[in-house]
Amino acid sequence: MATRTQSRSSNRNSNRSSTSESAGSRSRENRSSDSRSAFSWGENAGPLIGAALAGVAIGFAANYGRKALMQGLEAAAGDWDEILATEHEMTLAIFDKMLATDQTQTFKRKMLLMKLTHALDKHAHQEEMVVYPALREAGVRVEADQLETEHGEVKTYLYQLQQMGPNAPNWLETVREFRTLISRHAHMEEEEVFPSFKQGLTEEQDAKITSLVNRDGFWMA
Ligand SMILES: [Fe+2]
Ligand SMILES: [Fe+2]
Repeated sequence: MATRTQSRSSNRNSNRSSTSESAGSRSRENRSSDSRSAFSWGENAGPLIGAALAGVAIGFAANYGRKALMQGLEAAAGDWDEILATEHEMTLAIFDKMLATDQTQTFKRKMLLMKLTHALDKHAHQEEMVVYPALREAGVRVEADQLETEHGEVKTYLYQLQQMGPNAPNWLETVREFRTLISRHAHMEEEEVFPSFKQGLTEEQDAKITSLVNRDGFWMA
Protein backbone atom coordinates (compact mmCIF):
# COMPACT_ATOMS: atom_id res chain seq x y z
CA MET A 1 0.00 0.00 0.00
CA ALA A 2 1.37 3.40 -0.91
CA THR A 3 2.06 5.78 1.99
CA ARG A 4 0.75 9.35 2.00
CA THR A 5 4.22 10.65 1.19
CA GLN A 6 4.56 8.23 -1.72
CA SER A 7 1.20 9.14 -3.22
CA ARG A 8 1.92 12.85 -2.78
CA SER A 9 5.18 12.46 -4.62
CA SER A 10 3.64 10.36 -7.39
CA ASN A 11 0.96 13.06 -7.86
CA ARG A 12 3.68 15.66 -8.01
CA ASN A 13 5.55 13.60 -10.60
CA SER A 14 2.48 13.12 -12.78
CA ASN A 15 1.69 16.86 -12.57
CA ARG A 16 5.26 17.70 -13.39
CA SER A 17 5.34 15.40 -16.42
CA SER A 18 2.10 16.83 -17.83
CA THR A 19 3.40 20.38 -17.26
CA SER A 20 6.71 19.60 -18.90
CA GLU A 21 4.97 17.96 -21.84
CA SER A 22 2.86 21.04 -22.47
CA ALA A 23 5.89 23.29 -21.96
CA GLY A 24 7.78 21.10 -24.41
CA SER A 25 5.06 21.32 -27.03
CA ARG A 26 4.80 25.11 -26.51
CA SER A 27 8.52 25.57 -27.03
CA ARG A 28 8.39 23.40 -30.17
CA GLU A 29 5.59 25.60 -31.51
CA ASN A 30 7.56 28.75 -30.69
CA ARG A 31 10.62 27.44 -32.42
CA SER A 32 8.74 26.57 -35.59
CA SER A 33 6.58 29.73 -35.77
CA ASP A 34 9.29 32.26 -34.89
CA SER A 35 12.75 30.89 -35.25
CA ARG A 36 14.22 34.44 -35.51
CA SER A 37 12.52 36.16 -32.54
CA ALA A 38 13.85 39.21 -30.69
CA PHE A 39 15.55 36.78 -28.32
CA SER A 40 17.35 34.95 -31.06
CA TRP A 41 21.13 34.94 -30.48
CA GLY A 42 21.89 35.56 -34.13
CA GLU A 43 24.67 34.04 -36.16
CA ASN A 44 27.59 35.96 -34.66
CA ALA A 45 26.77 35.24 -31.05
CA GLY A 46 29.24 32.35 -30.74
CA PRO A 47 32.29 34.37 -29.66
CA LEU A 48 30.13 36.45 -27.29
CA ILE A 49 28.75 33.37 -25.55
CA GLY A 50 32.25 31.90 -25.44
CA ALA A 51 33.60 35.05 -23.78
CA ALA A 52 30.74 35.09 -21.27
CA LEU A 53 31.34 31.45 -20.37
CA ALA A 54 35.06 32.10 -20.04
CA GLY A 55 34.26 34.99 -17.68
CA VAL A 56 32.10 32.72 -15.55
CA ALA A 57 34.83 30.10 -15.51
CA ILE A 58 37.48 32.64 -14.46
CA GLY A 59 35.16 33.99 -11.74
CA PHE A 60 34.50 30.48 -10.49
CA ALA A 61 38.20 29.61 -10.50
CA ALA A 62 39.07 32.82 -8.63
CA ASN A 63 36.42 32.17 -6.02
CA TYR A 64 37.53 28.54 -5.71
CA GLY A 65 41.13 29.72 -5.26
CA ARG A 66 40.10 32.22 -2.59
CA LYS A 67 38.12 29.58 -0.71
CA ALA A 68 40.98 27.08 -0.98
CA LEU A 69 43.41 29.67 0.35
CA MET A 70 41.13 30.67 3.23
CA GLN A 71 40.35 27.14 4.34
CA GLY A 72 43.89 25.96 3.59
CA LEU A 73 45.23 28.53 6.06
CA GLU A 74 42.75 27.36 8.65
CA ALA A 75 43.41 23.68 8.01
CA ALA A 76 47.06 24.38 8.78
CA ALA A 77 45.91 25.16 12.34
CA GLY A 78 45.52 21.39 12.87
CA ASP A 79 42.58 19.33 14.14
CA TRP A 80 38.96 20.50 14.10
CA ASP A 81 39.15 21.81 17.68
CA GLU A 82 42.25 23.86 16.87
CA ILE A 83 40.63 25.23 13.71
CA LEU A 84 37.58 26.32 15.72
CA ALA A 85 39.72 27.81 18.50
CA THR A 86 41.66 29.82 15.87
CA GLU A 87 38.36 31.12 14.52
CA HIS A 88 37.31 32.13 18.05
CA GLU A 89 40.49 34.17 18.36
CA MET A 90 39.99 35.77 14.94
CA THR A 91 36.41 36.68 15.88
CA LEU A 92 37.42 38.24 19.19
CA ALA A 93 40.03 40.29 17.31
CA ILE A 94 37.24 41.72 15.10
CA PHE A 95 35.32 42.64 18.26
CA ASP A 96 38.38 44.46 19.60
CA LYS A 97 38.64 46.49 16.40
CA MET A 98 34.95 47.36 16.71
CA LEU A 99 35.40 48.46 20.31
CA ALA A 100 38.28 50.74 19.27
CA THR A 101 36.01 52.78 16.95
CA ASP A 102 34.10 55.96 17.79
CA GLN A 103 30.67 57.17 16.67
CA THR A 104 32.07 59.10 13.67
CA GLN A 105 33.63 55.98 12.08
CA THR A 106 30.38 54.71 10.62
CA PHE A 107 31.90 53.18 7.47
CA LYS A 108 34.52 51.28 9.45
CA ARG A 109 31.86 50.03 11.86
CA LYS A 110 29.70 48.82 8.95
CA MET A 111 32.63 46.99 7.35
CA LEU A 112 33.64 45.37 10.63
CA LEU A 113 30.07 44.27 11.28
CA MET A 114 29.96 42.66 7.82
CA LYS A 115 33.23 40.89 8.52
CA LEU A 116 32.00 39.71 11.91
CA THR A 117 28.72 38.45 10.43
CA HIS A 118 30.56 36.43 7.80
CA ALA A 119 33.05 34.98 10.30
CA LEU A 120 30.30 33.98 12.75
CA ASP A 121 28.11 32.54 9.99
CA LYS A 122 30.87 30.30 8.72
CA HIS A 123 31.91 29.26 12.21
CA ALA A 124 28.35 28.48 13.35
CA HIS A 125 27.71 26.47 10.19
CA GLN A 126 30.73 24.25 10.83
CA GLU A 127 29.67 23.64 14.41
CA GLU A 128 25.97 23.19 13.73
CA MET A 129 26.41 20.92 10.71
CA VAL A 130 29.29 18.79 11.99
CA VAL A 131 30.47 19.20 15.58
CA TYR A 132 27.19 19.56 17.48
CA PRO A 133 25.54 16.60 15.68
CA ALA A 134 28.66 14.54 16.47
CA LEU A 135 28.39 15.63 20.12
CA ARG A 136 24.75 14.54 20.24
CA GLU A 137 25.66 11.22 18.65
CA ALA A 138 28.18 10.74 21.47
CA GLY A 139 25.47 11.49 24.06
CA VAL A 140 26.58 15.08 24.84
CA ARG A 141 23.11 16.32 23.99
CA VAL A 142 22.42 18.89 26.74
CA GLU A 143 25.64 20.81 26.08
CA ALA A 144 25.16 20.66 22.29
CA ASP A 145 21.63 22.05 22.65
CA GLN A 146 22.78 24.83 25.00
CA LEU A 147 25.56 25.84 22.61
CA GLU A 148 23.19 25.85 19.65
CA THR A 149 20.69 28.01 21.57
CA GLU A 150 23.50 30.49 22.20
CA HIS A 151 24.13 30.63 18.44
CA GLY A 152 20.54 31.91 18.24
CA GLU A 153 21.46 34.71 20.67
CA VAL A 154 24.45 35.51 18.46
CA LYS A 155 22.15 36.02 15.48
CA THR A 156 19.90 38.24 17.60
CA TYR A 157 22.86 40.50 18.45
CA LEU A 158 23.84 40.68 14.77
CA TYR A 159 20.28 41.63 13.90
CA GLN A 160 20.16 44.31 16.61
CA LEU A 161 23.45 45.88 15.50
CA GLN A 162 22.29 45.86 11.91
CA GLN A 163 19.01 47.51 12.86
CA MET A 164 20.39 50.15 15.23
CA GLY A 165 22.95 51.49 12.70
CA PRO A 166 26.63 52.33 13.28
CA ASN A 167 26.12 55.70 14.97
CA ALA A 168 23.56 54.59 17.55
CA PRO A 169 24.46 55.81 21.07
CA ASN A 170 24.32 52.24 22.47
CA TRP A 171 26.35 50.66 19.64
CA LEU A 172 29.55 50.22 21.70
CA GLU A 173 27.68 48.96 24.73
CA THR A 174 25.87 46.36 22.59
CA VAL A 175 29.13 45.24 20.96
CA ARG A 176 30.69 44.90 24.43
CA GLU A 177 27.82 42.72 25.70
CA PHE A 178 27.97 40.68 22.49
CA ARG A 179 31.70 40.11 22.91
CA THR A 180 31.13 38.86 26.46
CA LEU A 181 28.61 36.31 25.16
CA ILE A 182 31.01 35.08 22.46
CA SER A 183 33.92 34.90 24.84
CA ARG A 184 31.91 32.86 27.39
CA HIS A 185 30.55 30.59 24.66
CA ALA A 186 34.03 30.01 23.17
CA HIS A 187 35.41 29.30 26.64
CA MET A 188 32.76 26.64 27.28
CA GLU A 189 33.58 24.98 23.94
CA GLU A 190 37.35 25.17 24.24
CA GLU A 191 37.76 24.38 27.92
CA GLU A 192 34.88 22.06 28.74
CA VAL A 193 32.85 20.50 25.94
CA PHE A 194 35.34 19.93 23.13
CA PRO A 195 38.25 18.51 25.19
CA SER A 196 36.16 15.87 26.98
CA PHE A 197 34.44 14.91 23.70
CA LYS A 198 37.78 14.68 21.89
CA GLN A 199 39.19 12.40 24.58
CA GLY A 200 36.56 9.80 23.77
CA LEU A 201 37.22 9.85 20.01
CA THR A 202 39.35 7.36 18.13
CA GLU A 203 42.03 8.81 15.87
CA GLU A 204 39.88 7.89 12.90
CA GLN A 205 36.76 9.65 14.27
CA ASP A 206 38.84 12.71 15.11
CA ALA A 207 40.26 12.85 11.56
CA LYS A 208 36.80 12.43 10.08
CA ILE A 209 35.43 15.40 12.05
CA THR A 210 38.44 17.51 10.98
CA SER A 211 37.83 16.65 7.34
CA LEU A 212 34.09 17.41 7.60
CA VAL A 213 34.75 20.75 9.34
CA ASN A 214 37.24 21.64 6.61
CA ARG A 215 34.85 20.69 3.86
CA ASP A 216 31.99 22.68 5.39
CA GLY A 217 34.28 25.65 6.04
CA PHE A 218 35.45 25.57 2.42
CA TRP A 219 31.94 26.07 1.07
CA MET A 220 31.13 28.75 3.64
CA ALA A 221 34.41 30.67 3.12
FE1 LIG B 1 29.64 27.68 19.04
FE1 LIG C 1 32.77 27.96 18.43
